[in-house]
Amino acid sequence: MKTQIFYFSGTGNSLRVAHDLAFALGDTDVVAMSRAIREKTPVVAERLGLVFPVYMWGLPAIVDRFCRQLEASSGTYCFAVTTYGGSAGGTLTQLQRVLKLRGLTLSLGRVIRMPGNYTPMYGAPAESMQQKMFDAEKAVIPELVRQIAGEKAGHVDGGGLVGRLLSKVVYRFGMPRIAASDVKFRADEKCDGCGLCARVCPVENIVLQDSRPMWRHRCEQCMACLQWCPREAIQFGASTAGRKRYRHPDFKARDFIT
Ligand SMILES: Cc1cc2nc3c(=O)[nH]c(=O)nc-3n(C[C@H](O)[C@H](O)[C@H](O)COP(=O)(O)O)c2cc1C
Ligand code: SF4
Ligand code: SF4
Repeated sequence: MKTQIFYFSGTGNSLRVAHDLAFALGDTDVVAMSRAIREKTPVVAERLGLVFPVYMWGLPAIVDRFCRQLEASSGTYCFAVTTYGGSAGGTLTQLQRVLKLRGLTLSLGRVIRMPGNYTPMYGAPAESMQQKMFDAEKAVIPELVRQIAGEKAGHVDGGGLVGRLLSKVVYRFGMPRIAASDVKFRADEKCDGCGLCARVCPVENIVLQDSRPMWRHRCEQCMACLQWCPREAIQFGASTAGRKRYRHPDFKARDFIT
């Protein structure tokens, strides 16, 4: 049976999960949501997977947009996995609501803890800690795949009442400010004008002017530009200079050029 997995990922955690699920399920297309939006990729498979990170205890804006324009038959089996750094809150409950608007039911929803990538607040965890999370991620895949392959109406990790309430507050305050928050990005003197930041940006939010990146205020805050810059020249506000970057070790910048 055919599966399509649509993913969003800035630093590879969600991409890792998407590929691991696809490999174990077989006969699965893995498509970047940014590309699917651009190319209007239709949902044609019997099984639909959504894999993405938690942002501000909720859905990244691009995931929300993608889901709000989903066209899929109401019988499509839907599953979702969201990766998070510390607390996923009510992210999957929010997803359930959005899918319902499209006539779809989320049959299975899991949260998987992975290294946090929000460098404006913290540096990447130690490699030994990262490895523990990668091992734990690999360990949950077989059970998830069994449930997906059996098209079970399983559990959705909803975040509990407190998580859902806090999610609403944090998300409603934070999410509308994200697109323009890129005014805090700048390239420092280490920038050599290579242009990689513009190429990894999933929403073409960066242009090079006089060999320097300029941000165009339709940012998703995925951190791909900051994390993949080979010279660590991109800073966000005053706190990121010298702070340890995070990228999932299985991927290269080219995997993010969609
Ligand atoms: C803008 C932004 C907001 C985030 N908000 C949360 C959050 O509310 N809770 C959390 O646990 N992790 C949060 N994170 C961390 C990511 O969810 C986590 O590192 C995720 O695995 C990254 O996935 P990716 O590598 O596929 O981009 C946030 C990251 C970013 C960039
Ligand atoms: S990736 Fe880094 S070095 Fe290259 S243009 Fe962007 S900021 Fe400059
Ligand atoms: S500008 Fe940077 S943080 Fe914003 S969407 Fe593009 S790559 Fe992500």
